[in-house]
Amino acid sequence: MITFTDLVAGYGRAGDILRGVGFTAVESAITCIVGPNGAGKSTVLKACSGLLRPRGGRILLGGDEIGGLSPAAILKRGVVQVPQHHGLFPALSVRENVMLGAYVNRHERERNRRRYEEICALYPLIADRASDKAASLSGGQRRTVEFARALMLRPRVVLLDEPTLGLDPKASAQLADSVTTLNQEGVTVLMVEQNVRFGLTLADHAVVMEGGRVLHTGNADDLLADPEMAQLFFGATPKGQVAS
Ligand SMILES: Nc1ncnc2c1ncn2[C@@H]1O[C@H](COP(=O)(O)OP(=O)(O)O)[C@@H](O)[C@H]1O
Ligand SMILES: [Mg+2]
Repeated sequence: MITFTDLVAGYGRAGDILRGVGFTAVESAITCIVGPNGAGKSTVLKACSGLLRPRGGRILLGGDEIGGLSPAAILKRGVVQVPQHHGLFPALSVRENVMLGAYVNRHERERNRRRYEEICALYPLIADRASDKAASLSGGQRRTVEFARALMLRPRVVLLDEPTLGLDPKASAQLADSVTTLNQEGVTVLMVEQNVRFGLTLADHAVVMEGGRVLHTGNADDLLADPEMAQLFFGATPKGQVAS
């Protein structure tokens, strides 16, 4: 699990964006951060992956401090961010794209080959389309390849920033399957999603952020069913009810 405590972070000389963020991304569960634009959701992920050095507070992976480590050091500890958009090399095959996920360990050929076989079993699409160029895939299929690539290093934690952005409903459903598969492998997932209903339906735990702070943490289904939250996010009635 990853625990954020009193996390303070910001950009350049500007003031702090995160002003004391605290929550836990529970081990082997899916946690989704929701909140309005500019709330600081992406900034939390950037601090977690090492792209942004925290100004204060702690980020503990298991019991180990990872806040302030380099992106490479954090990756080595098993925290992987799945990149969004243009994450694949279109002229390379699906297999080559997936194998690039193990680039830092590229000399462990036998281990990588075995891992690739496991991933093919998890995501049949990879085996089916192994020698096709990534450019020939649909948007949803590309996202699956990005997930497969992230899994090559056997991550403990996967970070996802707005994974459904630009996807149609069919591709979003495929993406949901990919996330569930990741999770069934025991991976801890911390995601940000602008599609609140999609994110909370997929997630076990929810974190609501606004203005660089955490407003609420709790069970994702409960949050989805909470009329106040429905009002806040959808300006409407909760899931399952028809607005009159
Ligand atoms: N690279 C950056 N440089 C300066 N300010 C930034 C940068 N990235 C984000 N911000 C600012 O930080 C705040 C939070 O951004 P972000 O974490 O991206 O919000 P969210 O993902 O919740 O929409 C916003 O006010 C945004 O303008
Ligand atoms: Mg964002």
